[in-house]
Amino acid sequence: MRKDFGVKTFFFPLPVLIIGTYDKDGNPNAMNVAWGGIRDYGKIEINLGEHKTTDNLRENMALTIAFADKDHIVEADYFGIVSGNEVNNKIEKAGLTITKSKYVNAPIINEFPVTLECVVESISEDLSIIAKIVNVSAREEYLDEKGNIDVSKLHIISYEPVTHKYIELGSAVGQAFKDGLKLK
Ligand SMILES: Cc1cc2nc3c(=O)[nH]c(=O)nc-3n(C[C@H](O)[C@H](O)[C@H](O)COP(=O)(O)O)c2cc1C
Repeated sequence: MRKDFGVKTFFFPLPVLIIGTYDKDGNPNAMNVAWGGIRDYGKIEINLGEHKTTDNLRENMALTIAFADKDHIVEADYFGIVSGNEVNNKIEKAGLTITKSKYVNAPIINEFPVTLECVVESISEDLSIIAKIVNVSAREEYLDEKGNIDVSKLHIISYEPVTHKYIELGSAVGQAFKDGLKLK
């Protein structure tokens, strides 16, 4: 037996993306975005409403995208419930620190393990933002012995949009393009 739920925006896992931007005066801001994903090779799409971040993106056409982790759930959620239009510097208020990206005019929030540095390619009328990744950076303690990002060390969180829970993503359980070969 299965239970029908009808039309629901159930889609899991959704990412918990922390979008870092500067405003026109160079003040940093961070926003929580779940409606986002890969659009094409090396490209990201995020879907926004009208926010301080949206104005900042129009201004600078640049952003960072950090994957929120279990150690920073409170800060990540705060970035999604308070606007930079109400609080002067949400990042500082949350006790986090920034470094300006070497590649784009946007702040990297130091405490998040992995960050994409991106330039905006287009902003549609319905505020779908397409951005190109120009660099990926990670804190060294999250790398494996070969120097790759070790996802099992990240404790990345995802978002479940019906019950609004943050869920921790776990460890590797298989190898893509390889495990299926057993049935070929
Ligand atoms: C879990 C979560 C996911 C969110 N996802 C989105 C999203 O995908 N798009 C969006 O426009 N707002 C989203 N929001 C709301 C914004 O993060 C929120 O309005 C924020 O205060 C905007 O910040 P800003 O005005 O400083 O840019 C989300 C909030 C939370 C808590």
